[in-house]
Parts: sequence; C-alpha cells; structure tokens
Amino acid sequence: MLIANALLLVAGGAAQVYAATSTLAPQFSPVFPSSMPKATGVVTSYNPGPYDTTTKLSTARLSGYPEAWASPPTSSAEVKKVYNMIDWTKVPNAPVRKQDSNGNWVNDSDENDKYCWWSSTNCVNPRASYLPPDIYTCPNNGDWGLNYDDGPFNRYDDDEDEAALENKYAEPALYNFLAKTNNQKASLFYIGSNVVNYPAAAKRGLNDGHHLCVHTWSHPAMTTQTNAQIVAELYWTLKAIKEATGVTSRCWRPPQGDVDDRVRAIAHQMGLRTILWDLDTNDWDMPAPGGGSLSPAKVDKDFKTWINNFKSGKDKKGHIVLEHELNSATVNMSMFWMPKLQETFNVIPALACNGIQNPYWEEGWVYPTANVAQPTNTATPTGTKTTTSATSVPTPGTCTSGSYGLGKGDGYNGACSASAMVLSIP
Ligand SMILES: *[C@@H]1O[C@H](CO)[C@@H](O)[C@H](O)[C@H]1NC(C)=O
Ligand SMILES: *[C@@H]1O[C@H](CO)[C@@H](O)[C@H](O)[C@H]1NC(C)=O
Repeated sequence: MLIANALLLVAGGAAQVYAATSTLAPQFSPVFPSSMPKATGVVTSYNPGPYDTTTKLSTARLSGYPEAWASPPTSSAEVKKVYNMIDWTKVPNAPVRKQDSNGNWVNDSDENDKYCWWSSTNCVNPRASYLPPDIYTCPNNGDWGLNYDDGPFNRYDDDEDEAALENKYAEPALYNFLAKTNNQKASLFYIGSNVVNYPAAAKRGLNDGHHLCVHTWSHPAMTTQTNAQIVAELYWTLKAIKEATGVTSRCWRPPQGDVDDRVRAIAHQMGLRTILWDLDTNDWDMPAPGGGSLSPAKVDKDFKTWINNFKSGKDKKGHIVLEHELNSATVNMSMFWMPKLQETFNVIPALACNGIQNPYWEEGWVYPTANVAQPTNTATPTGTKTTTSATSVPTPGTCTSGSYGLGKGDGYNGACSASAMVLSIP
C-alpha cells in the first residue's frame, strides 16, 4: 500500500515522497510548478553567521498569488493537484465547525473528544493512530522554546501614523535584535500573505539561522475550514515560503491552536508537523495595530511569574512560550524581556528544544539543537551558499538521542535517515 502510494505520487510529478516506516500515514512534499522562480539571495544550508544587519530590505512583492489575507480559492489547478495527492481515507470525518459572529464555537465539544480537538480540550495526542503527537512543550527543564507567530512583520507604507509608530519594529528589527543579542535563534511561523508582501524579510529570517514554519495564508480557525480550504491555506503558504527562500517547511502552527484530527491529517500528509505551545504571553492582545486591549503590565507579570517559577524550582520541564512578531507592542515586549530570559533560561528555538534539526524537505539543512556562538572569522555574504561551519553544528546522519516525539518514521527525523526517507525525483 505504501509503495503503491509512493509510485502514484512519483508518477504525478516531481514529488518528494516520504515513505513512512512506522504506521504513520505517508507524507509528501507538495509539487510546485516548474515555472516558479528560483529563490535568490538566500543561503542553501544552515548559516551560522556572521549576519548582515545593515542592509535595508527590499519591499518588492511576489506575484501570481491569491489575494492576501483572504480565504484563497480552492479551484486552482495547483491546489487541486495537492488535494488529489492526499489519501482521504486517512482523514477523519470530523465536522467543519462553526463560530458565531463573536467568534464563539456553536458547538464547543465532541462526544469523548473523538477528534482530539485542541480548542475544546487542549488535546495534543491524536486519536487517529496514523498521526504523530503534536509538539507543544520543551521536555528539558530550563529550556525556553522561542517562537514567533504571524511574521514576517511587514512595514506599513499606506498609513503615515501607523508607519511612524510601527516601522521601527517591522522586520528586520526583531531579526537584527536577535542576531545581536547572544546570536539568538527562534522558530518562526509565517503567514503566507505576509511572505508574499515582504519576501525580503522571509529571506532574512532564513539567512539569519531561524526555522521557518507555516502559519496559514489568511489566519482562519482551521477547524472551520473545508478540506479543500485547508489544503489551499497550507499550499499557498508553503509555496510563498518556497519561492521566497527556497525551502519547503515541514512544521506548522494552527492559528489560535485550533486543530483537530481532520486538520492534522491533511497537514501531516502535506508534510507538516503540528507545533503548539504550553505557555501563552497573549502579547497579540496588547494595544497596537492588529492587537486588542490587554494591559502590557499583565504580560510583564506573566514573564515575571515564569522566571520566578523556574528560579524557585517549581518547573519540572521546559516550555514553548507563544509570542508574536505582529506589531510594535509585541516586538518591544519581546526585546524587553529577552536579556532577562537569557540570564535565566536556556533560550533556544521551539523546534531545537525538541531535537528537530531538519525542518525542511530539502537536503543539506541541519540546524543545531544548542545555542552556538557566531563564528567571527568568516564573512558570509548574503545570497551565497555558506561554507562556514561552527564546530558544534551537527553533521547530517547524526541522531540526537532522547529527542521528544521524534522516533523513526514520525515525520521528522530527517537527520537520522534523510537519504533513506526522502526521494528526490528530478
Ligand atoms: C453538538 O454536539 C452534540 C454532541 O456531539 C451533537 O449531538 C449535536 O448535534 C451538535 N450540534 C450541532 C449544531 O452541531
Ligand atoms: C516596551 O516594553 C516594556 C515592558 O512592558 C515597557 O516598560 C516599555 O515602556 C515599552 N516601550 C515602548 C516604547 O513601548
């Protein structure tokens, strides 16, 4: 069955097929049109630095995409092609859920939570046996799994008032700050619409050593989407990231954490591991464009509590702490707390604290799982393949033991058997 599936996908185009060795459903890397322009100005392997924090980023956009921030059409040939690659017998028949005009669920539970609906029960272990568990925490006490949703933070060019306030914090502000603050790395969950509108920022995110993951095209609650809409939200975001940066992400985060086994099964087959969180700053809700009314003092209080909890020995494990690169308020908040977090915690990307070294389908990408100082001796011009390597960057083929939820065949694991599991068909 697995083999038949693989052959089918190969026959269908230039697919990369991940042949599952466990009982997990097979995954595939979406096929992008051969006419898609090749990414330029990006590194093609993990770049340990040093980084160029001086260049102003181009605001040129990608073209040929659906309307930004709108539900993308499901009728395009590209979306249909991916839709037809999915094994629909491996997608549970959970209802397409509804919210009222206030965003409240019309029905907020399933009998026995039979679809592992996170918004209802915080369920992270799928009922469907062929889906891997969600990643939502850092297993090692003292690890702070750094991650930002909603990027890349675009510049405001239309509204002068907003531009004056926000553009000091728009990218590359956060990426430059991270590079200069102990060479900090993060896992970034990108919105496809933002990538298309500011691809230069996505390139910078990749070139600066961060992980790039999918956060949908238009940021809907995904369990409210039809199967075809889910495919379209994920596909256009994967494509935007691929066209801008040359990589095909294998990680994603559902907006608001809203996921059930139907959504997970589609994302999984499209190569995407579901990444959630176990602590939430609620920073998105602070007053600023796109935000809400939460007092920054409340967010400060949460950071203090988390630091005190760890210092007083209350923590038994690490955490993935949800933050956003959304507006001036969220970025400023992150910049304010970063030095204090770094004094207290082992701040590493959310994927790194889970031992994930290969977040992309493309070969040659191996991220470190520990913090690594920037090499100072070799200049790495942006846009060329880096030949720099830091001694502690693991080489392909090394498996980290004790990593969390990353057993063979779980959909990641590329570092352990990339060549065996990923077929590149020209
Ligand atoms: C709500 O959920 C209950 C229990 O699963 C079910 O019986 C009912 O039909 C649902 N109602 C709607 C409007 O979906
Ligand atoms: C940045 O955040 C810190 C912490 O909440 C706050 O004290 C400071 O006033 C903020 N600065 C700006 C410019 O918003």
